[in-house]
Amino acid sequence: MKRKIIAYNFELTNTLEKLERDFDVEMFDSINPKTDSAFLQALKEAEGIIGLALPVDKALLDRAPKLKIVSNNSTGYNNLSIEEMTKRGIMGTNTPGVLEDTTADAIFGILLAAARRIPELDRFVKLGKWQKHLTTEQYAIDVHHKTLGIIGMGKIGSAIAKRGYFGFDMNILYHNRTRNMEAEETYNATYCDLDTVLKESDFVCLMTPLTPETENLIGEREFNIMKKTCIFVNGSRGKTVDETALINALTNKEIHGAALDVFRTEPVKQDHPLLQFPNVVTTPHIGSSTFETELKMAKLAVENLLEGLSGERPKNLINPEVLN
Ligand code: DGY
Repeated sequence: MKRKIIAYNFELTNTLEKLERDFDVEMFDSINPKTDSAFLQALKEAEGIIGLALPVDKALLDRAPKLKIVSNNSTGYNNLSIEEMTKRGIMGTNTPGVLEDTTADAIFGILLAAARRIPELDRFVKLGKWQKHLTTEQYAIDVHHKTLGIIGMGKIGSAIAKRGYFGFDMNILYHNRTRNMEAEETYNATYCDLDTVLKESDFVCLMTPLTPETENLIGEREFNIMKKTCIFVNGSRGKTVDETALINALTNKEIHGAALDVFRTEPVKQDHPLLQFPNVVTTPHIGSSTFETELKMAKLAVENLLEGLSGERPKNLINPEVLN
């Protein structure tokens, strides 16, 4: 009998062919993993899981006695309870190294869109409202030569700094757990404490991974510190931001606008208050979602899974302690 693998919300199913030769791959799409009976049944036999944003918590692990590896098809792995997995000797992997430029393009894109009001003015044209020359009502704000503050100067943060520095002559400030000397040398980035980044930046771009330390990192106090002309950009995870505080900051005009690729609950509901602001640009967590990059990520996730299941050390192992 073939060993079982669960594929969860895994879009590029053709990349799974390599697995299907040797494994019984059962696919689940848009189900509730806590209640779906076929999924819960499959968990009993599954040795591997591959997919996107499956909450792998204690309750799920308790139902998966044969599980050896969870191959996340993303670089972020806040959906995995790594500590619980490690206790049980279960490997976790992710897909870094192939999506940084693509994600930086998307996040810089929504920054530009918010500053230059591109979605709003696109609607203006399409609704037939462009009847005469532009008035101050339609004016936007400049991006070039402004100060870009990046919170989380990892690989994606650095790729955003590169775009800002070389493409738009921006002054780069950053805050990170550790200094990023390469970004300092290459993009003239200045390391600051969090409050200085918030206070001095024209654009605050949040790129940290979601961890217990970064959950609700940006809330009422932080929005108060930002300039009234600041545009806040979130390309990390929704839970790094207190959304009620963001709604209040926008309502009270404490900041100029926002660009959001991520939300606390995804997909975000159409009646969410953040979607009602014309000065908030939204995208559906598109960071890495191009044909080219999604294909690279899917192939990498498959490789990681195969390596883990064949007893090799997966390339992108998150918890190497399991091999000790
Ligand atoms: C990632 O890879 O973490 C992106 O945000 C897609 O989930």
